[in-house]
Amino acid sequence: MKIAIDGSAASGKTTLGRALAEQFHLRFVETGKMYRAVALAFDRGIELSQIDIQVTQGERFLLNGVDVTDVLHTRDLDEKSSKVATRSEVRERLVELQRNIADRGDVVMEGRDIGTVVLPDADIKIYLEASTGERARRRIDQRGEGDLRKIEQELISRDKRDSERAIAPLKPAADATIIKTDQKPLKEVISEASNLVRDRLEDVAWAAENRD
Ligand code: DC
Repeated sequence: MKIAIDGSAASGKTTLGRALAEQFHLRFVETGKMYRAVALAFDRGIELSQIDIQVTQGERFLLNGVDVTDVLHTRDLDEKSSKVATRSEVRERLVELQRNIADRGDVVMEGRDIGTVVLPDADIKIYLEASTGERARRRIDQRGEGDLRKIEQELISRDKRDSERAIAPLKPAADATIIKTDQKPLKEVISEASNLVRDRLEDVAWAAENRD
């Protein structure tokens, strides 16, 4: 089972992805953290050809053997990762790494281009949408600080860069289910997505039983 979750920054992808992974016993991979790790590596003067990123089953991100997971979610790397994500050579490397992980087993993978580019044959594709105000409020809750207007402006500029870039722009796959999460309790979003997974599992089981 491969599940692709896409959507803009702070749209709730990680919370939903982790919940589905736990419920259906799948591996969870946040691909945004890979772009953040590359941005961090560039900051430290490491060239792309010298970058090695490993992702453990326990969701730890290793950059050249060092666990950098806890330093990836900063405002500085929000901006820098969105910029490195426009570079084709960076995307090629990371898409290859993401496909290798998905080839090894069942996975819930979240990002911007999972349903469109990384896993075009995913069993389920979900695209989350939420207003800028709602997403800014969530980001402040997550990080425990921040000025609402400033965070909104940063999200707007990141959305613009993510969705207007030439390669793999942020957009829903043609066959994605769009879930709008504004004013929707998280429990409801998770239950909507879980129903999609259960329906798909039933279809797969039915097809296996009726194969001649
Ligand atoms: O999901 P995130 O905020 O951690 O992602 C950081 C940046 O990485 C985001 O601005 C765009 C980029 N990204 C991408 O281009 N493709 C992905 N599959 C995941 C993230």
